Amino acid sequence: MSDQRKSIHGTWSSRWTFILAATGSAVGLGNIWKFPYMAGDNGGGAFVLIYLACIFVIGIPIMLGEIMIGRRGRSSPANTMSFLAKEAESSQAWTLLGATGALAGLLILSFYSVAAGWAMAYVFGGFQETSAQAVSSEFDKFLADPAALLFWHTLFIILTVTIVARGILKGLEAWINTLMPMLFIIIILLCIYAMQTGAFLEGLAYLFKPDFTKINSDVLLAALGQAFFTLSLGMGAIMAYGAYMPADQNIGRTAITVAALDTGVALLAGIAIFPIVFANGLAPTEGPGLVFVTLPIAFANMPLGVLFGTLFFILLSIAALSSSISLIEPGVAWLVESLKTKRAYAAIGLGIFSWILGVFSALSFNLMSEFKLFGMNFFDFTDFLTNQIMLPLGGIFIAVFVGWVMKKKDVLDELQIEDGIIFKSWFFVIRFVAPVMVAMVLLYFFI
Ligand code: TRP
Repeated sequence: MSDQRKSIHGTWSSRWTFILAATGSAVGLGNIWKFPYMAGDNGGGAFVLIYLACIFVIGIPIMLGEIMIGRRGRSSPANTMSFLAKEAESSQAWTLLGATGALAGLLILSFYSVAAGWAMAYVFGGFQETSAQAVSSEFDKFLADPAALLFWHTLFIILTVTIVARGILKGLEAWINTLMPMLFIIIILLCIYAMQTGAFLEGLAYLFKPDFTKINSDVLLAALGQAFFTLSLGMGAIMAYGAYMPADQNIGRTAITVAALDTGVALLAGIAIFPIVFANGLAPTEGPGLVFVTLPIAFANMPLGVLFGTLFFILLSIAALSSSISLIEPGVAWLVESLKTKRAYAAIGLGIFSWILGVFSALSFNLMSEFKLFGMNFFDFTDFLTNQIMLPLGGIFIAVFVGWVMKKKDVLDELQIEDGIIFKSWFFVIRFVAPVMVAMVLLYFFI
């Protein structure tokens, strides 16, 4: 039975807490920063449609699997995999899935922290410039300044490490509870602003009218990778959080709630941003700077814009923090359990690892901009390697583990569900649809 194993890190105090924590992990830069610029880089509507399909057909079923694995194992992803592999009388090599997942988390954190640093810097953005040119040249100037980028990157890692060192169960609950809804409200305000730009319909059409001629293997993989990234799937973050989930909580309903909130925030961010892009003659293909050159224009033009702008970037930074802690938690929990490392030392050690890699990401916008790996700068390369390769591969292995390695009766027992139509459909997706589709997208991209 699932509740025989207790996590040494504690359990969330209520059902609501798991939803908040998982939503805190899922909602972050991926929704507000990455989703819009990925949509813009990949042609808009067709990308969005495939992304949504990936969320529903692949993301939600795998999220269920990840939560289920985590709760059954009740420890860090690596030890959970080891325990469940034993339970299923399978190979201990599955431990590696937990370990590479923890590594993927640290790699993601390295560039995530650089972008989160931009959000923190924008808290002091001023929001006076109303022209697209001025805003965009400010951002370029900022990117060209290695000291500024390194300062904010360092600060963000320190904040992440501090929270994780204290234990993610403390403190986290309260602020996700109140701050996340506030972020949501400001995004709605931005959408209202977007309605008045005169390019609202153009923005909506760009986002929701698919142009199927734009679909190619790059777009498919980008949409798939974004689905994994935005739901925090494929590396054990949700698994690690699942370990702290109360035994009587319904996993299916929880996964759907988290995915719905996450997708809602991403779509609203897109609805707010693209009208501003078109109204100001900016290009959707602006890349990673897209939100940072569009939203300041909106804040400069709206009443109380300085207040809302400042608040928005504070909340975005906090949303990024509630995500970043889940990137480092799988590794930290593992060190604490297996090497009996003090939580603080584990967090600091892994934080330093991500910080060093992140330095290269920060410098890839200025001093090291000529340094290319497979044609990408260091920032883009780390992003590509993790989101479009490691996470989808992790997803395949998670699906295979749940569908083919675990005993079906254990899966049923942990989900506390009947072997009926709902379970059967999900199990079919986890065994066949999800792994085959992800594998096909990866193969199609590489061949
Ligand atoms: N989902 C987060 C975002 O959208 C980022 C994130 C947190 C993440 N934990 C993760 C991505 C684990 C992949 C895996 O900002």
